[in-house]
Amino acid sequence: MSLQGKNIVIGVCGSIAAYKIATLVRLLVKEKAAVQIIMTPDAVEFITPLTLSTLSNKPVLVDYFDKKTGSWNNHVHLGLEADLLLIAPATANTLAKMANGQCDNLLTAVYLSAKCPVFVAPAMDLDMWKHPATQRNITLLKSYNNTIIHPGNGELASGLTGEGRLAEPEEILAYLSNYFTRSQPLSGRKALVTAGPTHEAIDPVRFIGNHSSGKMGYAIAEELKNLGAQVTLVSGPTHLSAPGDVNRISVISASQMLEAANTYFDAADIIVMSAAVADYTPETVADQKIKKKEDTFAIPLKKTTDILATLGKRKTDKQVLIGFALETNNELENAKGKLQKKNLDYIVLNSMQDKGAGFSTDTNKVTIIAKDGTLKEFSLKTKQEVAKDICNIIIRHPYPSN
Ligand code: CTP
Repeated sequence: MSLQGKNIVIGVCGSIAAYKIATLVRLLVKEKAAVQIIMTPDAVEFITPLTLSTLSNKPVLVDYFDKKTGSWNNHVHLGLEADLLLIAPATANTLAKMANGQCDNLLTAVYLSAKCPVFVAPAMDLDMWKHPATQRNITLLKSYNNTIIHPGNGELASGLTGEGRLAEPEEILAYLSNYFTRSQPLSGRKALVTAGPTHEAIDPVRFIGNHSSGKMGYAIAEELKNLGAQVTLVSGPTHLSAPGDVNRISVISASQMLEAANTYFDAADIIVMSAAVADYTPETVADQKIKKKEDTFAIPLKKTTDILATLGKRKTDKQVLIGFALETNNELENAKGKLQKKNLDYIVLNSMQDKGAGFSTDTNKVTIIAKDGTLKEFSLKTKQEVAKDICNIIIRHPYPSN
């Protein structure tokens, strides 16, 4: 499996087995993973940072501070941005610190800050491994949901034979690849997401728009990508940058959005239409800037095509179609009406009456209504978390053709 787009942080501790990490980094880079190495101060005695930075194409981090540049290595960001943290080789000392929440170096601070899955591959002499203190620490790490890649049995650096050898690089790679395959239930699926506002031109300098930031749609596109889907994001004008590995098609008007959505719809298995599409557009666009004359001024508008309803008519059983409804009153009734009228599988209702929900905010509070009328109400969450809730529903969707 390709690990393209995966950010893997490897924490290397002071063990003779650190040399095996050079091979592991090589294998991961070959699979297109982005690898960031962090070493404990003792690890640099076993393998040079130069070797690992050359193989990973990134500077190796050891200290909180980079004395040369005067900058500091932000452990919180490192922990938050990683898709996976692997500690290998994990020494008895680092295991003990991790189990007890001690953080006296950059690596242990990153461990404490990490929100991603953590894999731990211990390496030590057989008696250290067998010691009840080490075994208790392993039990504690398991209780924190860390995955232990067990050491192998064989010849040890001490000359003794037994359990304690770092798992081989190929075995560690298989663990990590398996994890990503399992965590990508939408692998092989194609998704189409619309996001942001549309701008309907009045003349060369003016348009009719709305306050949609696109944040919800971008978060959905990113989550679908993380779950393995191949994502096309048709986006109206926003200030957001496209999530990595997402095919962004930038459009401005409702008619351009319709054209792009039409192009990608038939090939898509998952379609989430979160864009705030203008319902009306000027009948004509003035060639020149309209000059100010009378006290009042009216622009004749015509209805835009409802993209969602158009696609709903073409929807097959192999596709799951999700729309959004932003309502200020009679929320449930209106949302259910749209669900039926537009032939959707689910509709995500945002009520403008909920504080912290709707346009431009970083949070949202939604209710998701299914075609069969079942309803799930969610609490106020970040848009990233709402995206996860929506994707959970997509993962569980019972396709009639399955
Ligand atoms: N939508 C669309 N094309 C349009 C208008 C809306 O695809 N021209 C989609 C939106 O992306 C959203 C859903 O329809 O997923 C509902 O949008 P909303 O603005 O809440 O509803 P409308 O159908 O436009 O109805 P109204 O504005 O009257 O509430």
